[in-house]
Amino acid sequence: MWSRILRVAMLTALWGLGDLQVTTTVKPGRGKGSNWWGIAKAGEPNNLIPRSPGMVYMDPSVLTNLRKKQKRLVRENPGVFLAVSKGANMAIQECQHQFKNRRWNCSTRNFFRGKNLFGKIVDKGCRETAFIYAITSAAVTHAVARGCSEGSIESCTCDYSHQGRGTHVPPNAVTGIRDWEWGGCSDNIGFGYKFSREFVDAGEKGRNVREKMNLHNNEAGRAHVASEMRQECKCHGMSGSCTTRTCWMRLPNFRVVGDNLKDKFDGASRILVTNAESETGKGLSRRKRNRYKSNLLPHNPEHKPPGSMDLVYMDPSPPFCEKNPQLGILGTSGRMCNETSIGLDGCDLMCCSRGYRTQEMIVIERCGCTFQWCCEVKCNICRIKKNIHTCL
Ligand SMILES: *[C@@H]1O[C@H](CO)[C@@H](O)[C@H](O)[C@H]1NC(C)=O
Ligand SMILES: *[C@@H]1O[C@H](CO)[C@@H](O)[C@H](O)[C@H]1NC(C)=O
Repeated sequence: MWSRILRVAMLTALWGLGDLQVTTTVKPGRGKGSNWWGIAKAGEPNNLIPRSPGMVYMDPSVLTNLRKKQKRLVRENPGVFLAVSKGANMAIQECQHQFKNRRWNCSTRNFFRGKNLFGKIVDKGCRETAFIYAITSAAVTHAVARGCSEGSIESCTCDYSHQGRGTHVPPNAVTGIRDWEWGGCSDNIGFGYKFSREFVDAGEKGRNVREKMNLHNNEAGRAHVASEMRQECKCHGMSGSCTTRTCWMRLPNFRVVGDNLKDKFDGASRILVTNAESETGKGLSRRKRNRYKSNLLPHNPEHKPPGSMDLVYMDPSPPFCEKNPQLGILGTSGRMCNETSIGLDGCDLMCCSRGYRTQEMIVIERCGCTFQWCCEVKCNICRIKKNIHTCL
């Protein structure tokens, strides 16, 4: 019901108020492809205006953050808005999970309309920004591909393109097992990939290095989803004899994509920013130039050029130690740290050598759990004293 209400409200907004011109200011360096992130906040109370009891109306201003092309895509693919919104939230959650122990922890700003969701850090072409673009683009790919197979997007279905392959393969002479047989409902990665390219990349023309960086990282995010597609099968036949099998392609758990992208973050490639940016593609019509093949050069000429699955960045990251409103950096004062860790979550690194305070806290935990036949686990509730360390 929730989705129906949101849908109705949205269509009103798309058709009725679609032409409402609201100027959105975008920092010159960033590219224009990031305002859609605000969709993540579409379902939040801030953006929902209660009308009559039980009926909520979504503030159409959420949609004013979309570009014309993005609005068209939402109109033409009923159901896709919720998938994109789900994807954006999945991206935030995954990003915060991957970065919870780091100085920059992927915090988002929850404010009216959700514009500039990740804050000003994205104005800088640093690694963190590269990760944000890749994970959001990957999440849209994932959520839309799943939306298709779940039947929640009207303009796409399961991917049945594998159907019929293998059906004429005779059973194995020894085992009697037939080679696999397709026919199941595959997550529609083809549609998800294409939709993400259209929607997520709508604002990136690839005219300067920053826009190329965004395009490259968006594409890398999608590639990481596609490369983790796995075949799943179910056996049919008497008592599990598996004389026939139904197989389909399934999306990876999004955690896998997050883990892989985090690895790429750690090994991200710094690219060269040249003055001759506008030279690229000269003489070629825009149509002819493949914007995903921009031949980015490594900053260090001894390094390999970045591969299509790699994340790329232009600027070194700021230290994230002290509060810096200009860059939207919160600083690590007040963050919890681990006294015994020598990693980034250790108090020395997390607190940037400023020191930390230790407080004794009582935490309530389950303890002394016993397994009882069958099948219960019984626990006591314990009050445990713990030392909590927080950065000065
Ligand atoms: C991230 O760190 C800031 C302080 O720097 C803190 O206020 C915020 O709650 C943290 N966010 C998450 C998601 O951990
Ligand atoms: C702190 O770091 C140590 C060493 O890396 C680890 O074993 C321990 O689980 C960490 N504690 C917390 C609360 O994360």
